[in-house]
Amino acid sequence: MSQRIQFSQHGGPEVLEQVEVELTAPATGEVRVRNHAIGLNFIDTYFRSGLYVPPSLPSGLGSEAAGVIEAVGEGVEQWQVGDRVAYATGPLGAYGEHHVLPARHLVKLPDAISYEQAAAVMLKGLTTQYLLRQIYPLQAGETVLFHAAAGGVGSIACQWAKALGVKLIGVVGSAEKDERAKALGAWATIDRTREDVVQRVMELTDGQKCPVVYDSVGKNSWDISLDCVAPRGLLVSFGNASGAVTGVNLGVLAQKGSLFVTRPTLAGYADTAPRLQAMAAELFEMIASGKITVEIGQRYALSEAAKAQQLLAEGRTTGSTILLP
Ligand SMILES: NC(=O)c1ccc[n+]([C@@H]2O[C@H](COP(=O)([O-])OP(=O)(O)OC[C@H]3O[C@@H](n4cnc5c(N)ncnc54)[C@H](OP(=O)(O)O)[C@@H]3O)[C@@H](O)[C@H]2O)c1
Repeated sequence: MSQRIQFSQHGGPEVLEQVEVELTAPATGEVRVRNHAIGLNFIDTYFRSGLYVPPSLPSGLGSEAAGVIEAVGEGVEQWQVGDRVAYATGPLGAYGEHHVLPARHLVKLPDAISYEQAAAVMLKGLTTQYLLRQIYPLQAGETVLFHAAAGGVGSIACQWAKALGVKLIGVVGSAEKDERAKALGAWATIDRTREDVVQRVMELTDGQKCPVVYDSVGKNSWDISLDCVAPRGLLVSFGNASGAVTGVNLGVLAQKGSLFVTRPTLAGYADTAPRLQAMAAELFEMIASGKITVEIGQRYALSEAAKAQQLLAEGRTTGSTILLP
């Protein structure tokens, strides 16, 4: 038997329930992983609330964890029972003692990276990889704006940008987060609770604005972000922490300076095993070289998933949060 968190209806954190389920044997092409640590991500709250729709209800939750392969299905050649692995894409269901998923979603965990570190960094670090290294080829000396800079993805982005010589202006929601983003390598910070973000960006860039703006806050920051993008620049809208961006009039991109917009997902960039492996290799190299330190801001028992999600949704966490089965 195995413990897992699931939900049978959409709603707040209270709809999460812990249940005991039969252990599932992996089908062809699948493996069963015994999770040692599980990553908590904002996207988990979207599936729970109904903003994103799971394939069916009741549904498992979560897509990121690290652990050991416990069983291997037919046709799986490159993985063996006992292998240390991590994953951040694939079907929902990582919030549990075990998860069965297609083997193509696995990456081998280097010995130097612990299960807890991997659970804290896989989804957020792979996201940062495609944001800073694939969507737009950032050059040293360029200045970018990054919302939620002291959060899970943001904490890694501050460090990775610094390593690239990119001047990251981090938007944060408190004085404490301001200090944290600076310590992680943000070139400058803006506390959105007491400063005008657009005005500060104009000051910090001598009126040039930013060639790229990374916005995961969504609804509340969309207009602000548009005003921070330099002419012909790129707005990367990659999340909905304050709600989804809807009803966009494309003409606004013309008015604000012939702007580009993209709405990417990790699944869209890590869409094949070779691409996933290459992205993970680069992430692990950044960690091994000490350029990125994985900071776990909060640890909770699996049974406390609802509480952990509540704090994340209220913006009361810093860095990564993990759940321990
Ligand atoms: N598209 C993709 O591939 C992809 C992949 C991973 C994550 N994401 C997105 O990236 C974002 C960050 O994910 P994460 O798991 O690392 O979360 P997180 O950044 O640790 O938490 C979200 C942060 O957003 C900020 N925020 C601003 N307004 C908010 C509001 N009204 N409600 C809640 N939070 C608000 C808060 O920071 P401040 O208080 O400092 O502003 C909060 O800490 C999420 O939007 C997530 O969906 C997208």
